[in-house]
Amino acid sequence: MAKTVRLEPIAQDTSIQTNGNLLSVLINKDLDVLRECGGRGMCATCHVYVNHGMQALSPINRREQRTLEVITSCKPNSRLACQARVLSNGVVVELPPGMYINSLKDIEDLIGRRAEQDLLHPLTGQVLVEAGKLITRSMMRQIEDTTSFSMNEYFSHSSDV
Ligand code: FES
Repeated sequence: MAKTVRLEPIAQDTSIQTNGNLLSVLINKDLDVLRECGGRGMCATCHVYVNHGMQALSPINRREQRTLEVITSCKPNSRLACQARVLSNGVVVELPPGMYINSLKDIEDLIGRRAEQDLLHPLTGQVLVEAGKLITRSMMRQIEDTTSFSMNEYFSHSSDV
């Protein structure tokens, strides 16, 4: 039987098969979810906040827990959409504000412009450039550093999963 999930802040209801994951809800709505790890619970690009109905979702598994621990924007109501399965009605999900960086090339194209929204690290969800800030070449270098640092951390976290 289908269950209904509400998406915020776009205020849309959508239905999903019982036991389907939240990621399929987001994809059905053409939302921009990177799915960097292919839905295996190892990146942060499908991170969402569950505003209501946490108990209507499958419990957090160990891998999801470990990935959530490295997301700087993690809150008590954070879930990874690819891991959270919808068991009952009443779930309200909100996407974190901002745009995930796909590659450093994304940023290169934006140098000299102001970020229209927060630009987020693809694995950790860390805010790399705040909305309204000018994107400069030196910022780009900092990001390269952050990216390689976090990548190392990411792989050390995921190696023994
Ligand atoms: S797609 Fe990577 S954790 Fe969900």
